[in-house]
Amino acid sequence: MRTLPVSFLLLLSVWSVCVWADSGRIRQKRAWIIDSFSIEEEHPGPFPYPIGKVELTDSYLINYVLRGQGVDEEPKNILSIDQSGVIYVHRKMDYEHGPKILHLAFEARNQYNKEVDTRLGVEIKILDVNDNAPKFQKSVYEVTVDESHDQGKEVLTVLAFDEDDSSTNNGTFVFTIKSVTPKTDNVEFYIQQRKESGTIHFKGCLDFEKAQKYTILVEAKDKGEKIQLSSTSTLIINISDNNDNLPEFSGKTGPGKVKEREAGVEVLRLQVTDKDVHGTKAWKAKYTIHGDKNEIFKIETDPVTNEGILTVVKQTDYEEQTNHNLSISVQNEIPYFSCKIKKKVQNAMWELDKILPNSDTRSANLYNTFPVTIYVEDVNDPPVFIPPVKHVVVMENIDVGTSLTTFTAKDMDGSHVNTFTFVKGEDIDKWITIGAKTGEVSTIKILDRESPFVINGTYTATLYAVDEGVPPLTGTGTLVIHLNDQNDNVPILERNAVSICIDKEPTTANITAVDLDFPPFGSPFYYEILEDVKDKWRVEPAHGNAIYFTQSRPPYNLSHHILLGKHITKIK
Ligand SMILES: *[C@@H]1O[C@H](CO)[C@@H](O)[C@H](O)[C@H]1NC(C)=O
Ligand SMILES: *[C@@H]1O[C@H](CO)[C@@H](O)[C@H](O)[C@H]1NC(C)=O
Ligand SMILES: *[C@@H]1O[C@H](CO)[C@@H](O)[C@H](O)[C@H]1NC(C)=O
Ligand SMILES: *[C@@H]1O[C@H](CO)[C@@H](O)[C@H](O)[C@H]1NC(C)=O
Ligand SMILES: *[C@@H]1O[C@H](CO)[C@@H](O)[C@H](O)[C@H]1NC(C)=O
Ligand SMILES: *[C@@H]1O[C@H](CO)[C@@H](O)[C@H](O)[C@H]1NC(C)=O
Repeated sequence: MRTLPVSFLLLLSVWSVCVWADSGRIRQKRAWIIDSFSIEEEHPGPFPYPIGKVELTDSYLINYVLRGQGVDEEPKNILSIDQSGVIYVHRKMDYEHGPKILHLAFEARNQYNKEVDTRLGVEIKILDVNDNAPKFQKSVYEVTVDESHDQGKEVLTVLAFDEDDSSTNNGTFVFTIKSVTPKTDNVEFYIQQRKESGTIHFKGCLDFEKAQKYTILVEAKDKGEKIQLSSTSTLIINISDNNDNLPEFSGKTGPGKVKEREAGVEVLRLQVTDKDVHGTKAWKAKYTIHGDKNEIFKIETDPVTNEGILTVVKQTDYEEQTNHNLSISVQNEIPYFSCKIKKKVQNAMWELDKILPNSDTRSANLYNTFPVTIYVEDVNDPPVFIPPVKHVVVMENIDVGTSLTTFTAKDMDGSHVNTFTFVKGEDIDKWITIGAKTGEVSTIKILDRESPFVINGTYTATLYAVDEGVPPLTGTGTLVIHLNDQNDNVPILERNAVSICIDKEPTTANITAVDLDFPPFGSPFYYEILEDVKDKWRVEPAHGNAIYFTQSRPPYNLSHHILLGKHITKIK
């Protein structure tokens, strides 16, 4: 029993003041004193059993009474007191359910005047025993983790709680991984605890091909002093496949050859194997052609078989190139990553060799390549004119039979018939002939620059070289004849006679002439009056397309001829 100053006691025992203050009979002689006892929960008895005695020094005190929780307040009928001050427990107490401290009031009366003499606060603590195991929030946890998940990164967090007093070892617990199934050498799982939560991590590299699922048994065990209680939870960790396997070439099928000048045909199929899950982006192959400068080929992926289908998209030429050396590389639709264990380190992250999916793997020279040679098959080629167009410049009116030029043609065929003959193609005005063997082109007609078939001074004819293949193939050449003009046309007056009205004033008449020849063999013309009327008539100007015939001195009767001539030198 303790003796404490009154003021301090009032602070501590607010509840007692509330209960007792209104009685108005608080006496200074006997102070409010708190006495405390404890009951261990789940005590098996036998009941009642004593937990202690209220010690009183004054021998005149009688009629000990206990009131409050455990007596006349909930939980009722647990405690009693006898007249020697011993407190008894009548029933089992439970720390987890119900009050953890019982508050009571003790009083005793004066033997002589029967007045209440002593009042005392009593506290009875319920003591925890380790009667609860820590419990997991869930009995099964499930998560899916990508196999590219980094070591040390959180995989899953579990939660557990213990109903026992969490401020003691009976209510605190530790997580432990009890088992991991299957056991693989590529990962080591561990759990990190923070109070009541435990986070699962791993060291190493996950590998879908080694384990698609791990089952981890985690235990939570309290630190109870006499006994330790525990429970477990099952963690299911599904691993999802990522692209940690490169496709590998396993074969090729198909002819591997193409007929020259044939396009849009499939020439080869390449097969690959990939250990990643069939049909996923980590499995689907993506092919690339290398060494195809002229973009003759294309490659596509067969969506079902994952084969690379190589197709010729542009015509090939056997005579130019008999084979095409390509290399085909293959990768997947999603980037590749890899994780390899270099060294397992105790108490730290392992040393790994990692290629991250986002790293530039293109340059890493990772991808498998496959050399492919596509052979071009020779087929009959047409003869080719060299050059395909020839220009000749000749004077018009040259003699029939004049040789204009000699065409040459070549049949490029390597393995086919390469003899051919020349024949005339289009020759609209029938001007020329070509030597079947020689290719010599000669005229068979007088060439006329003024012919309606001459356009801008040129006449165009086509020629064929036809080979003897089956079917025969034809090459085409073009001859363009540029005709030089000759003064082979006389100028003609547009009108033969002109009537002029004679007047007092000088009179003019407009005289015009035309010529089919081109300058300098055409206009402008030179005009001259043939008769001796110089003093009467004149032409002005003396040159030009049109002149004025002018009366010099009126009036005069005349009937004159005009000589019309052409200059053969240019007139400025
Ligand atoms: C813990 O529980 C045990 C009984 O299992 C009990 O004896 C002990 O007093 C308790 N400890 C505490 C600190 O409550
Ligand atoms: C884990 O995989 C199983 C099948 O193996 C499946 O039934 C389950 O739904 C998966 N769990 C998760 C979280 O994806
Ligand atoms: C392709 O490779 C073969 C063999 O190495 C070689 O004989 C051939 O000349 C190459 N073709 C071309 C077009 O480079
Ligand atoms: C003739 O030549 C002229 C000038 O060079 C050109 O503008 C014209 O189109 C040509 N005519 C024909 C039919 O080729
Ligand atoms: C003369 O005739 C030519 C051609 O018919 C014409 O271009 C010119 O304008 C004429 N001159 C006169 C003065 O009539
Ligand atoms: C002019 O010629 C006409 C007929 O040609 C003739 O009738 C007339 O007399 C002549 N005049 C003169 C002045 O000579």
